[in-house]
Amino acid sequence: MSVSSPSSLLAYCRPGFEGECAQELSGRDALLAGAGYARAARGSGFVEFVTPDAEALAGSWRDLVFARQLLQVLGSARDLPPKDRLGVLLPIIEATESAQGPRRWCDAWVEAPDSDAARELAPLCRGLNAALVGVLKKKQLIDRASRWRLHLCLTATDAAYVAMADIAHTAPWPGGIPRLKFPRAAPSRSTLKLEEALLVLLDEGERERWLKPGMRAVDLGASPGGWTWQLVARSLHVAAVDNGPMDADLLASGLVDHLRADGFRYRPQKPVDWLVCDMVEQPRRVAALMADWLATGQCRYAIFNLKLPMKKRHDEVQLCLALVADALAAAGKRVELRAKQLYHDREEITVFARAS
Ligand SMILES: C[S@@+](CC[C@H](N)C(=O)[O-])C[C@H]1O[C@@H](n2cnc3c(N)ncnc32)[C@H](O)[C@@H]1O
Repeated sequence: MSVSSPSSLLAYCRPGFEGECAQELSGRDALLAGAGYARAARGSGFVEFVTPDAEALAGSWRDLVFARQLLQVLGSARDLPPKDRLGVLLPIIEATESAQGPRRWCDAWVEAPDSDAARELAPLCRGLNAALVGVLKKKQLIDRASRWRLHLCLTATDAAYVAMADIAHTAPWPGGIPRLKFPRAAPSRSTLKLEEALLVLLDEGERERWLKPGMRAVDLGASPGGWTWQLVARSLHVAAVDNGPMDADLLASGLVDHLRADGFRYRPQKPVDWLVCDMVEQPRRVAALMADWLATGQCRYAIFNLKLPMKKRHDEVQLCLALVADALAAAGKRVELRAKQLYHDREEITVFARAS
């Protein structure tokens, strides 16, 4: 059995995107001392980033595209005895001090990365989670008002990281994955991508202020209507642009105009509040189109997918985001960009943009 406690971060990501996740963390680290390095195995669904600046970097989950979650590592252990894993992990937890003494936790989550191998650990995670919360309560280390959440990440039956999260700056879902139920009336599973985007990229207040009944939206590449369905569910009027068919029930809602047109040529007669776009196209072409709508004031808010190339995916994302930012700057406008590879995104990422 071995226990170690380097200064490091633990990021969860989509399996296969560990390289991009590590590249992003290195980029952030380079803005500080740049002394960090990543430990990542392809397909594992997580990256450990060892850096003396772990504390300073720990709050950057929202700014990272490929990280679903970002945790500050307190220690790790290998060769855990199957009958008493917590016996080894508890001393690491109890050694964590705050200014007021032993750190108390608002909650404790035992989770595993999103890889095929680690998914089999789910039953063990559930069992350990109940036991861990029980022990923490007994030791009076649970305080619902604390801003810190404890995470145990099992990477094998006998290996785990102990980590912590500041709840204000980390994903509020176990594994960094919001579990959404497919709405039965929605016409396609793609609907979950937009639902997740609205949940992850906007906060509650923003969803209320920026998505109001009666607002107007354009959905480029709308067929059969999963994204349009999300907008209609929030009582927005939608111009659904696609040569493909739209779901009949959506059309019957009275809130949808189906326009059989090319999404790259279509422009609204009057500016709209929202533009959403799920066209399968080259990312730079989509980014340039979004930049044009935002820069010319044809929409205020946009959510769009960027399908990623096979190689240099991190570079392509940076290039596309810079393309939008530069176009808006050239038009004398400010733009706020938030981008994430969502759980429902495969070889793609989702971007929210707001022009002002
Ligand atoms: C991934 S599907 C969209 C799924 C849709 N968001 C949903 O939730 O049901 C991509 C759509 O983009 C449309 N598309 C691709 N290129 C287009 C273009 N140039 N103009 C309009 N639609 C386009 C395709 O016809 C296809 O229906």
